[in-house]
Amino acid sequence: MNSEVATKGSIGVFDSGYGGLTILRQIRQHLPQYDYIYLGDNARAPYGPRSFEVIYNYTLQAVEALFNRGCQLVILACNTASAKALRSIQECDLPRWGGDRRVLGVIRPTVEAVGALTRSRHVGLLATPGTVGSGSYELELRKLYGDIVLTSVACPMWVALVEYGEFDSPGADYFIQKRIETIMRTDPEVDTLILGCTHFPLLMEKIAKYTPTGVRLVPQGEYVAQSLVSYLDNHEAMRARCTTTGTCTYLTTESVETFAHTAQIFLREALQSVEKIEL
Ligand code: DGL
Repeated sequence: MNSEVATKGSIGVFDSGYGGLTILRQIRQHLPQYDYIYLGDNARAPYGPRSFEVIYNYTLQAVEALFNRGCQLVILACNTASAKALRSIQECDLPRWGGDRRVLGVIRPTVEAVGALTRSRHVGLLATPGTVGSGSYELELRKLYGDIVLTSVACPMWVALVEYGEFDSPGADYFIQKRIETIMRTDPEVDTLILGCTHFPLLMEKIAKYTPTGVRLVPQGEYVAQSLVSYLDNHEAMRARCTTTGTCTYLTTESVETFAHTAQIFLREALQSVEKIEL
């Protein structure tokens, strides 16, 4: 890591691609005063089908890049990275780097929220193969709500539909309908479906179309944002180390033009500044 250690900086928000924008948007609505750096590793997305080791290494490189740009706090706005890399980074890498920087994920805040949303206590998880295979949601749910039955279905194509601009195409319907039917067939008592991948809200229109009436869809942005608000409320020292001029800059490992074009469709606003970086 950079030898010049910054003591104040932006909040870093990282995802394998565009999905983390759904988290960033909600965070900025709740906490507009802070500065943000968003990093999308679009050139290497999707992460979902990759091995533990690869996801961990890619995520570590991304966190390091954000720390090198002064970030004091990084949100892994990616379930796959949260499931596969967060714990190792928190336990092994943060102490190695020293100092007080922090990395937080998206799974815990989502699980915390779900307990109050389901009535049947049967919950479905739609996520990447990496997140489903990690068993992280089961683990967190068991710690908080032992009575909830979780049914998980991996949706291997969904991230690619977003990353390759097919989110609105008729072809997307096939893959989306198929997975929702699978989960509802496996457990017809499911009344709450966690969209356990930050890319999935970008497919919301089609997901909603195939979800049975009465089943609640749970995108994560709102819960992650609320959790960050309370984290900063409870961590005075970290709050003081996050700068507050209200800026948001974007980094991508893909071309600036491709990123800016697609990201502004999802954010519904023009991007102030985009830079291509190598990880
Ligand atoms: N947005 C990431 C997630 O929440 C997608 C991971 C991927 O690239 O497959 O899991």
